[in-house]
Amino acid sequence: MKDDTTIVHAGRKPFDNHGIVNPPVYHASTVLFPTVEAWEHAREQRDAPDTVVYGRRGTPTTFALQDAMAELEGADRCIAVPSGLAAITAPLLAFLEPGDHMLMVDAVYYPARRFADSLLARIGVETTFYDPAVGAGIADLIRENTRVVYLEAPGSQTFEMQDVPAVTEAAREAGAVTMMDNTWATPLYFKPLDFGVDVSIMAATKYIVGHSDAMLGLVSVQDEHFSRVRDSAWGLGMAVGPDDCYLGQRGLRTLSARLARHQESALKLAAWFETRPEVARVLYPALPGDPGHELWKRDFKGASGLFGVVLEETPQEAVAAMLNGYRYFGMGGSWGGYESLVLPTRPEKLRSATTWDAPGTTLRYHVGLEDPDDLIADLEAGFERLRAAGRDGPAESPELDKA
Ligand SMILES: Cc1ncc(COP(=O)(O)O)c(C=O)c1O
Repeated sequence: MKDDTTIVHAGRKPFDNHGIVNPPVYHASTVLFPTVEAWEHAREQRDAPDTVVYGRRGTPTTFALQDAMAELEGADRCIAVPSGLAAITAPLLAFLEPGDHMLMVDAVYYPARRFADSLLARIGVETTFYDPAVGAGIADLIRENTRVVYLEAPGSQTFEMQDVPAVTEAAREAGAVTMMDNTWATPLYFKPLDFGVDVSIMAATKYIVGHSDAMLGLVSVQDEHFSRVRDSAWGLGMAVGPDDCYLGQRGLRTLSARLARHQESALKLAAWFETRPEVARVLYPALPGDPGHELWKRDFKGASGLFGVVLEETPQEAVAAMLNGYRYFGMGGSWGGYESLVLPTRPEKLRSATTWDAPGTTLRYHVGLEDPDDLIADLEAGFERLRAAGRDGPAESPELDKA
């Protein structure tokens, strides 16, 4: 079955539910059993897939989403958790113990870094951050107690690619578990497990839900790692509300069509940004000039709608005038919904193993499903505001630059 067919059919059982196309939304905490024998039987079976014993452990609404995602990922099992960040922290806590060492990519999503530097450090786990370009050189950083190697590609602020198979091969040889945040590509454009990753992490809040209206995380693994991840998520009390599971499975059905359009428009906008004199660099591995392009072309099937733009040196007030006046690019965290977004980012402040050199402000754009020509007109008007504010306003604002 091809992926586009899988995402339409996987996890759905209409004829278990009066022929209704989508799975029902079960709101449940207590689940009743008619007899002591039935209760005992359910307790014995409670770890078996699709067993309904208590709301926190999932209902058929949860199972429909998990089954669909596992199939798409090429995984034996998937577990739903309440956010993308939970999809990062639950597996980290599943595999790391006091005295362990972790290698984490320097371009990592910032709250994952913060988790490593705070809670994991507190329980005695040491983290070393590594250059995203390390490739097979990761072998030199692996220690005897390195238990986890954590990847994210492309990084969601700087869009640096990683040589995933080179890293996973070295980690496997050393007996370390690999985890990868694959939120940018989704399993439609990259399947981590096919490239040697043990734990595939998805902030389903983004493209899977796709409409900016639910928080959701998904962790996909083969059987050998499932019980550890599940015990960690369940032990931490991570339970996803049924409406959010429902929205996740519903979003999944249209993911392919949405992503194709995000990609087409993002490519158009990224190429347009490259022609602009205000722009120093566009950070998008799908562009032929991007330093990660060869790796992207080798391993990925597509690109999503999120990319970075590094401006030439520009006064902060001028950047603010550009961003504040956008008509279609909303300002806010997260991404992957149907709407366009923009945020100024500060990658230079979020790294420790490497440095981020950029002449001006780094921006992150999410290209939504609007008409791309309307978006370009909005961006063009933004650059006019930027130029006007740069010309007429104060040349530099050291105070704002420091913020
Ligand atoms: C790459 C990446 N991973 C994980 C997350 C966390 O997802 P959530 O916001 O659902 O916790 C985000 C959210 O911004 C993200 O961009």
